[in-house]
Parts: sequence; structure tokens; C-alpha cells
Amino acid sequence: MTTTPSPEPHRSTTTVGIVGAGPAGLMLSHLLARDGVDNVVVDNRSYAEIEQTVRAGILEAGSVRLLVDSGVSDRVLREGDEHAGIEIGFDGRLARIDFADLVGSSVWLYPQTDVFIDLAAARSRDGGDVRFGVTDTSVDDLTSDRPVLRFTDADGVPHELRCDLLVGTDGSRSICRRAIPETQRQQSFREYPFAWFGILCEAPASAPELVYSHSDRGFALISQRTETLQRMYFQCRPDTDVENWSDDRIWAELQSRVNVNGLELREGPITSRTVLRFRSSVCEPMRYGRLLLAGDAAHTVPPTGAKGLNLALADVGVLAPAIRAFLATGTERELDDYSVRALQRVWKAQHFSSWMTSMLHLPPDASVFDLRRQQAEIRSIIDSRAGSTYLAEGYTGWPA
Ligand code: PHB
Repeated sequence: MTTTPSPEPHRSTTTVGIVGAGPAGLMLSHLLARDGVDNVVVDNRSYAEIEQTVRAGILEAGSVRLLVDSGVSDRVLREGDEHAGIEIGFDGRLARIDFADLVGSSVWLYPQTDVFIDLAAARSRDGGDVRFGVTDTSVDDLTSDRPVLRFTDADGVPHELRCDLLVGTDGSRSICRRAIPETQRQQSFREYPFAWFGILCEAPASAPELVYSHSDRGFALISQRTETLQRMYFQCRPDTDVENWSDDRIWAELQSRVNVNGLELREGPITSRTVLRFRSSVCEPMRYGRLLLAGDAAHTVPPTGAKGLNLALADVGVLAPAIRAFLATGTERELDDYSVRALQRVWKAQHFSSWMTSMLHLPPDASVFDLRRQQAEIRSIIDSRAGSTYLAEGYTGWPA
């Protein structure tokens, strides 16, 4: 029997190899390029696949600033929607958390898809090297000073790219994180006994700002996308099968959960339905040898506080200058400092996301004590300026 020898890989070099062309990878690529640092980004998904993935839609003011000030795009300012607060639906009424008044800040409704489109357009405008649709991606020689990124490009040509540094921004199922020996990382993980049923529907907006609604039937979130397209979620069991949910059944469930004065939920055809799992995870440190992790590759949060994308952007906002300092001085401490600094924000966001989750969701086996304690917790936030300020500060994001 004869076997065809695999073709010799195309060998090349770059300064930073980036695995994952989501917002974290593309933003890092953009920031490095702006500093004159050569880099290549690969992703096994196609452009269309990434663009069509429905993700969260809230940007902290710091994330908006990073996009605008670094010259990615100011489209977020023109087409995004500034929200100066959120509403908490509780006990038959809406309680507004006024970010502008409480902490002098706001957030922007601007879907992750649009952040991705802006970043990909900026990389393309500036001549960035981004390869979508690659296969057989692997990383190796991580503790040497020339780590390697191997992949086969969309035309079937195998590549071996030698780098000074590798960065894994390849999402929660990261191959980069899994390339770190288990003995060299501390993996924290929590799974929650509920999930969100997420829909997109063709309807006008029901409210000008997001409504986070607590109810006896479980949590619901009313969010928006455009004037004619809305995003909503309701708490469900993790094993929920979306096939069992007709439009009528979904609307009945949502209506029963946002039964508050001053809110009329506007219905329309449902065009997308998915179940989102609730997980918290952190990999520490976010560095192994010449490999660094950022975004979901290093940590995931449940969607309640909309922190996922914001954390990913905050990571690379710290990582880009750390890489610059490392390349200028050769001092590995810069890389360790990245992990230490990024993890401080990561754990604050972990706490905030799990706190907001536990304040607004009850597990299926909750007791009356659990419910009464939770109701008191919500009251101690919405009835108190100090409590509301705590929520506002975490939601709008801590200073870098
Ligand atoms: C969304 O609009 O998709 C969204 C907003 C806020 C969240 C989660 C998701 O907390």
C-alpha cells in the first residue's frame, strides 16, 4: 500500500500569531498593527459563520471608547443606541436604575455582530492578515522562544508559522487553552441549573431600555436590536428543546413573566430560537510560556450582566501594551503582569455576573426561604441609592 506524503508546509514567520478572529482576536490584531507589530489571525470559521452568530448586544462605555479611540470605527456612535439605565421588573412595577445619575456613565446597545463587522472591515482597510476558514489548527513549542502555529488555509495549503508570541482568542472551546498542560493551569468552573431561551422577533420595541424582569414563573429579559427586530430571553431548563416551543407558547410565557405596570410587550413573528447555557469558568494564569489567552478562551460568564464581549475587549486592551513592552524589553514579567491585571477585572466580572444571575433567577428546587431572601435582595437594590449605585457601577464597567 502506498500513502501520499503530506505536502511540505509553507513556512513563514510573524511576530504574533493569533488564533481566533472574533472580537478579541481582531481587536488585538488591530491594536498591535497600529503599534507596528506584525501579526497574523486565523479562524476555522468562515466570515459568514462568525457574522451570523447571534450574541449579546451591550457595550460598556470603555468598550465603545476602545473601538472609537483606536480608530476601528465610529459607527457605534452613529448607529448604536446609548442607554443611560435599565429597568428592573419586580412586584408588578418597573424600577429604573439610572446609570447617568448614579455613576455618570451609560452603556450602548450595539450587537456583537456589528462589533465583528467593524473590526473585520478595519483589518481589511488597514491591510491586516486575517485568514478565515482554516482547518487543522494546532499550536506547539509553547515554552520555546519560537512557538509555532500550524494550519491549513481555505485553499488546502498547509502552513507553519513561527512567531515570537501566540495568543489564543479562540473561544470557550479553545484549542490553545487545551494545549496548556493541566498541571500548569487552575481551571474554575460552575454550571447553573437553568438556561435562557433566546429569541429574535420581528416587532417594534416594547421599551426604550432593557427590562430585567423577576417573576414567580422565572426570569425574563426584554432587549432590542433595531426598530423592527427585538431580542428577548426567558429562563428555562438547560435541557429545553426549542422544537417544542411554538410562537404562541413562547409569547404566553414571556407575557406572564413581564406582567408589570407600564410595559406592554409587543409581539411578532419569531425568527430565531436558541437555548443559552449558563456557565462561569476561569483559567489561571492566562499565560503559559509564549502563549497568552484572552476573551472566552480564558473565561466565560453567564449572560446576565452582558459582560462576555466587554471582558474580551478589556483583556486585549491590557494585552496589547504588555506585548509591546515585552517586545521592546524582552522581559517576560510583562506577560505575567498581563495575566495578573486582566484576572482582577475577570474575577470582578465573574462575581458581578453570578451575583446578578442569582439575584434574578431561582433554581428549580428553591424553597420559600430562598424566594423571600431573593425578593429582599432585589428590594435592597432598587429601594436604595447605595444598592442601585452598586449595580450601576458593575453594569457600566469598572475603570481600566
Ligand atoms: C442582548 O441584548 O442580547 C443582551 C442584553 C443584556 C444581557 C444579555 C444579553 O444581559
